[in-house]
Amino acid sequence: MDDKSTIICRCEEISCEEVEEVISNGGRTFDDVKRITRCGMGPCQAKICTSLVAEIIHQQTGLSLSEIPLPRMRMPISPIKLETLATNSTSFSAVKSVLDEVELEEGKVR
Ligand code: FES
Repeated sequence: MDDKSTIICRCEEISCEEVEEVISNGGRTFDDVKRITRCGMGPCQAKICTSLVAEIIHQQTGLSLSEIPLPRMRMPISPIKLETLATNSTSFSAVKSVLDEVELEEGKVR
């Protein structure tokens, strides 16, 4: 990536330079980058930044994309409201993704 200030993880505002620094210090997986930078810990739970980080790892290390492990996922896969958990609702209509309500303003998640 030519512009090192390019934001890779929009949720946590992690730049390409920060990701590359982790890789240059030995990081070889998305989880390595996540542990150091919080990349992937935002509201989208790495749905947007996973492939971008994998591409940077590929470019910097020469590992093929199939050799780079996918990030570990933890439940819930999609953010849900605490209200939904508190009411112990099991219907799909009650489990509405918080991402549906996230508003983007000037490229940043509020
Ligand atoms: S873009 Fe990385 S967690 Fe959302």
